[in-house]
Amino acid sequence: MAFVTRQIIRTLTTSATRNAAIKTVTIIGGGQMGAGIAQATASTGHTVVLVDTNEDILKKSAKGIEGSLKRVVKKKFADKPEAGEEFIQKVMKNVSTSTDAAAAAQKSDLVLEAIVENLKIKQGLFSALDKAAPQHTIFASNTSSLPITDIASSTTRLDRFGGLHFFNPVPMMKLVEVIKTDSTSQETFDALMAFSKALGKHPVTCKDTPGFIVNRLLVPYMMEAIRLHERGHGSKEDIDMAMKLGAGYPMGPFELLDYVGLDTAKFIIDGWCAMEPNNPLFSTSPMLNKLVAEGKFGKKTGEGFYKYK
Ligand code: 3HC
Repeated sequence: MAFVTRQIIRTLTTSATRNAAIKTVTIIGGGQMGAGIAQATASTGHTVVLVDTNEDILKKSAKGIEGSLKRVVKKKFADKPEAGEEFIQKVMKNVSTSTDAAAAAQKSDLVLEAIVENLKIKQGLFSALDKAAPQHTIFASNTSSLPITDIASSTTRLDRFGGLHFFNPVPMMKLVEVIKTDSTSQETFDALMAFSKALGKHPVTCKDTPGFIVNRLLVPYMMEAIRLHERGHGSKEDIDMAMKLGAGYPMGPFELLDYVGLDTAKFIIDGWCAMEPNNPLFSTSPMLNKLVAEGKFGKKTGEGFYKYK
């Protein structure tokens, strides 16, 4: 009898987990990506806790979210400024901030990290949160280039771990890459797909391969633009103009590199070069290395390939 009861409870619990939509979300990392994801999540009625290591970063993130919301509202509520103001208030109410990741994870259906691209740090974070978060909580990483399988290996919830890769600027970019590893369960994958759609995004399915779809194509393209310039075959201004006017890209490769962050681009290409040193698509660039060594990371530091006010 006890066995039957246990079976019934297990079946009910499993189906509850299977059907439960993601409503409460913890986002770890208050940088550009984390804040952007928090904004998209809160704007679609989800409850969000944005976590980072100190209050100053979190204050900056909240200010960034509000600033971006104002830009959205200016277009979306052009004729109804009061409704726009109301929308901003409502969205901001859905976001709280915290420096306590474990406490936030305890109340979340989804924990998504958008922290530094360092495997050991990501593993350390998820290993700690694995002990704090409830059984049903799904873990996901917004990594640009690291294998989701390697990050997930630090936890005991391989079936409830996947990738959710967003694009900068998150409030504007419609795509989310949903990564299913060999261990991600179908229920988890379905929940991540449904969550992406609930954000008003268009999800695509990706295997756990380097760079998934977008970065696997975009990063070699941007690196080839740098190499073209290094060979003296075109100025950065001309290459940018050529790709905007000749290929219809909204930004040229140098503008996009500065926008994404040269430190991020270097991290990705260095990692791939170490993995496949003989692949010419993954070769590094002295010009990129020099700019990063000088602390010129692009728009966020005021200078990269171009200078910013
Ligand atoms: N928040 C809210 N609204 C924004 C915004 C933001 N962060 N950025 C732009 N907008 C909206 C605003 O309505 C803005 O009008 P406003 O300036 O009057 O407020 C409007 O878009 C137009 O913006 P801009 O005048 O600055 O410039 P654009 O017309 O060129 O649009 C862009 C900006 C959407 C960023 C466009 O240039 C673009 O699509 N660029 C390519 C971005 C891209 O490729 N991203 C992917 C990078 S790869 C990545 O992220 C993966 C990672 O792993 C490396």
